[in-house]
Amino acid sequence: MISVKELSHSFKIGKKGKEKRIPVLKGLTFEVADGEIVSIVGRSGSGKSTLLHIMAGFLTPDSGEIHVNGVETSSFTEVESAKFRLDNYGFVFQNFQLMPGLNAFENVELPLKLKGIDKSERRKKVRDLMKSVGLAEVQDHYPNELSGGQQQRVSIARALITDPPIIFADEPTGSLDSETEQDVLLLIQSLNKTRGITFVIITHDDEVAQTADRVYRMRDGELSEGGMHDAI
Ligand SMILES: Nc1ncnc2c1ncn2[C@@H]1O[C@H](COP(=O)(O)OP(=O)(O)O)[C@@H](O)[C@H]1O
Ligand SMILES: [Mg+2]
Repeated sequence: MISVKELSHSFKIGKKGKEKRIPVLKGLTFEVADGEIVSIVGRSGSGKSTLLHIMAGFLTPDSGEIHVNGVETSSFTEVESAKFRLDNYGFVFQNFQLMPGLNAFENVELPLKLKGIDKSERRKKVRDLMKSVGLAEVQDHYPNELSGGQQQRVSIARALITDPPIIFADEPTGSLDSETEQDVLLLIQSLNKTRGITFVIITHDDEVAQTADRVYRMRDGELSEGGMHDAI
């Protein structure tokens, strides 16, 4: 469902007149199938977040193409990208990125407000989802009144609330202790099974990567399909 072809990107660094281009992604070609959990693992600085930003349309690549269900997303305008994201993608980040001034319920409700869904439908959807991911008890809590694991559950619920076919997760367990990490990984697996959501999980952690159906390894700006025993 996601097809990436010959994707390259570099960043310009240095002072004016002395700029250098640092290549970060060097001609990546890979696919993510419908209903799969795919992980992309690699060292810090290897270009994983850059790849995710490009796949999600936050950043335009130097060259290459991305197709999502047959639609070429890499040539979208900013407005087209934003609309496509709202309809197709959910996002989960390492640092949760919840709105501190909104409680858990309101954080999960926000994407539905952005989509213009009316209040009674919104409230019912949010209530049902929060119950199903074990957040009913804490829906009135503000982010600073929740544990890290609970905050990540809220951010996963927020990613799910619009029923996106694809969720991108950038180091989703990077701020969690190992027990909570397991909870979050199990939640991802169960959402994949019960709702058929495709997950692209980015991580520097081999153990997290190995919970996916398929693992891609990022190294020196290139991607290879590989397992745990490949040296990084
Ligand atoms: N906006 C930017 N400008 C210049 N260099 C950047 C920018 N964003 C990322 N980089 C560089 O690109 C490389 C890859 O970064 P990133 O994709 O964040 O890696 P990862 O997520 O694997 O840790 C790093 O060397 C980083 O310093
Ligand atoms: Mg990163």
